[in-house]
Amino acid sequence: MQNYYVIGDPIKQSLSPVMHNASFQALGIDATYQAVHVVPKELSDWVTSFRKQGGNGFNVTIPHKVAIMSLIDEIDPAAVSIGAVNTVLNQNGKLIGYNTDGKGFVASLHSLGLAVSPLTSHILLIGAGGAAKGIYYALCESGFQHITIANRSVENAVVIVEEAPKKGLKPNAILTLQQAEQQLDRFSIIINTTSVGMADDLMPLQLDKLKQQAIVCDIIYNPLETRLLMMASMRGATTQNGVEMFVRQGALAFEIWTGQQPNLDLMRKVVDTQLGG
Ligand code: ATR
Repeated sequence: MQNYYVIGDPIKQSLSPVMHNASFQALGIDATYQAVHVVPKELSDWVTSFRKQGGNGFNVTIPHKVAIMSLIDEIDPAAVSIGAVNTVLNQNGKLIGYNTDGKGFVASLHSLGLAVSPLTSHILLIGAGGAAKGIYYALCESGFQHITIANRSVENAVVIVEEAPKKGLKPNAILTLQQAEQQLDRFSIIINTTSVGMADDLMPLQLDKLKQQAIVCDIIYNPLETRLLMMASMRGATTQNGVEMFVRQGALAFEIWTGQQPNLDLMRKVVDTQLGG
């Protein structure tokens, strides 16, 4: 029997166990995936016990995505650039860290099947936290040429953009949220990575100048439709919530652990059911 986990604080709300357990079962893999509540001061001890137990892998969620990096043996270069790890593989006793969040987002964007061209799309990335950073690097790595970051605290966006050239990436532009709002018609893809809209009915910016053909993505999946997505859809935009990114980051982790591709339709169905969709 193989053992996988997701560790975080809080963790009760995690949809990863149902999604991964359904995938293991569908592929006939003898494995279990459990959520474990690990508070920051217990992280190091938990990793030690995971090693002793010979667990096969785990996901890492808030608030451990940065702290885990000093407790494992090797880190994939993309995760080093992002500065965060969300997936750990135990490869013959060596713990290797990856980041599948950003790649999961890019895969979800391409899954829209629209003309999402890295060369011609003009992306507005709203937010400059951990999620924004992962998505920013994955977009850059996938060849997206025009990315503008807008954030409430401009200094946090400056950090991301200033680090980019050191990592061999093209520097990109920064706007305040107000400037982004005024120039919204320049952007073909708008991505909300902030928590605005999760526990409230607010939007990170107003959509008066939204292009009708724009794609608007929100990485929030609970609620399934944030106010931002609802307003964007009323204006004729194509919208995407965070379910697809969540499913894709999970599928990439599953592949790292098992070498097998899980059934995306099954994963989506399980997650949607849990969210009441
Ligand atoms: P995560 O790791 O999920 O990205 P985070 O690192 O705490 O979370 O980042 C949260 C992001 O949401 C930040 O971009 C934050 O803006 P600041 O850098 O100005 O803090 C943004 N954010 C949170 N609450 C916000 C609000 N009420 N209005 C606008 N932006 C907000």
